[in-house]
Amino acid sequence: MLFDHELAWKDPDVYNEVYRTSIEFSEQFWEYHRARLFAESNYNASFNCVDRHAAKNPNKTALVWYGDEFCERREITYIKLLIMVQKIASELLRRGVRKGDSVTICMPMIPESIAAMLACCRIGAIHNVVFSGFSPVALRERVFRSASRMVLTVTSSSRGGKLIPSLKNVLTAIDGLNAEILLLDHVDDFSIDERAVHPTPMDYADSMFTLYTSGSTKEPKRIFHTCGGYQLYSAMTFQYIFDAKESDTYFCTSDIGWITGHSYITYAPLFFGLKSVIFSGTPMYPTGGRYWDIIEREKVSIFYSAPSAIRCLASLGNDMLSNYDFSSLRALGCVGEPMNESAWEWFFNNIGQKRCPIMDTWWQTETGGIMLAPLHNISLQKPCFAAKPFFGVVPDIQNDELVILKKNWPGLSSNFARDDGQIYHTGDKAMRDEDGDFRVLGRIDDVVNISGHRLGTSEVESIVNSLGEIEESAAIGIPHRIKGQALCIFATTTSTLEPEQKESVAREISSRIRQDIGAIAKPDKIVFIPELPKTRSGKIKRNILKIIGEKKKIDYESGDLSSLVNLNCIKDIETAMQRAIKPMV
Ligand code: WT7
Repeated sequence: MLFDHELAWKDPDVYNEVYRTSIEFSEQFWEYHRARLFAESNYNASFNCVDRHAAKNPNKTALVWYGDEFCERREITYIKLLIMVQKIASELLRRGVRKGDSVTICMPMIPESIAAMLACCRIGAIHNVVFSGFSPVALRERVFRSASRMVLTVTSSSRGGKLIPSLKNVLTAIDGLNAEILLLDHVDDFSIDERAVHPTPMDYADSMFTLYTSGSTKEPKRIFHTCGGYQLYSAMTFQYIFDAKESDTYFCTSDIGWITGHSYITYAPLFFGLKSVIFSGTPMYPTGGRYWDIIEREKVSIFYSAPSAIRCLASLGNDMLSNYDFSSLRALGCVGEPMNESAWEWFFNNIGQKRCPIMDTWWQTETGGIMLAPLHNISLQKPCFAAKPFFGVVPDIQNDELVILKKNWPGLSSNFARDDGQIYHTGDKAMRDEDGDFRVLGRIDDVVNISGHRLGTSEVESIVNSLGEIEESAAIGIPHRIKGQALCIFATTTSTLEPEQKESVAREISSRIRQDIGAIAKPDKIVFIPELPKTRSGKIKRNILKIIGEKKKIDYESGDLSSLVNLNCIKDIETAMQRAIKPMV
């Protein structure tokens, strides 16, 4: 199989040709790339991401870390990373962790966290990273369900000027569970055990890690990814879609708590031996210039971020931008939620300075890597379109939903049967234009997307319904200028409440959600209503709540209302919406 890798994501003709080949000769296509990228047939990610580069380029920078303050910077070379990984792997082995065991990692964005993921891979342990912003209750559930007997964390960290007491949270989370803590504050003090000097051999189909994500059930789903398929797919997509090369300096603003932080902070960039910048602060602290300062200082060439962050930074205006040099950039990317035209234009004009293509990449925790992305060619760029399928991926739209016609790309989570004949349902709404380009518009199932964070509405409702004052509830996503979507909760109560009582119940709902999930799930609006709109069979009519939540007019002529048993409740809900409570906690 011969084709020009350089041009495959740039030139539309080459792209079409390679795409056709990838579909017609799917098996040979993946096999060709597997053999090219895994010349040594070694599927240990620690070997691929660290040992190979430490042997060839020991003093090359692997990670540059920036902390909360402008002056906080650390640089970790590949040889230093190898030693860190070996030390953590040694400590895990000394504590009895073995191949196939689950290890939970709950850490801030520091080099030790990346080293911890790689240390698990090194000994064949299955890491289970939990976002450090989740509450102890949510962490406990994930430690327990994944049967992790070891939790890796640090004493504390600071993010956006706030102290995060990680150790205290983890202690609360694992109280009474059969799990112990390994603190990674002083990795230098660990010694290297002979057993950790070489990476454990791993098979293509061995599990590499798990990650919990929200679906439409009450419980978060545990997603499994395997060593071979996952690494192959995340590496390939990174190479083609970002045209990534060893000489690039790459900055992705996600967090290792999400799949983006797995595929495109840890595994793909280090697979190719890049210099990767990680940042443990927030884009707004101490000023809104943090990302731009890092881009200038590190001469970042590829910058991958999220629509919410871009909208938030765009809202600050352009005055400060002239203080920064963006000339090192050659490609931009965004992921996690639908982009909007004005944020896209702002990003393209001001950060990319009309020179850099924007890779609006659509994918999911389940898909392992990018599934749709635009070609590099600037003249072909369409704002907010994720445009083209990656090689081997066959997308289609059925009843407005984006579906993938074959479950055979290597990155697909092993939770799903790798079956050619079956369709993969994405749960996203999408459209396709006359050029065949895709645009993803948001979820069609009961999942909301707040600043790129997936949240199941039934997870929220089960928390709200557990309060004594609440009879029933329905949580929906409503549009939000910065966050994309915000959470709005409609609830009925067991008795009539006075206005002050409503305020206090609303506070209680909000703090309970914060306690059980975390601050990202905090509702923006709580609306107490006499009755939820329902069908004859007792199903809550969420689409009606969505219309009211968006403060749009209800169309009484539409067939939508015909299935409703309690038509009269609509007026009451509209009135109650005017008095929605915005909880302060
Ligand atoms: C959901 C997956 C994939 C890494 C981050 C999120 C939404 C993701 C886009 C995009 C529109 C997007 C979808 C998807 N989404 N990327 N470029 N345009 N929507 O991973 O937490 O598994 O969430 O994020 O709704 O289903 P995740």
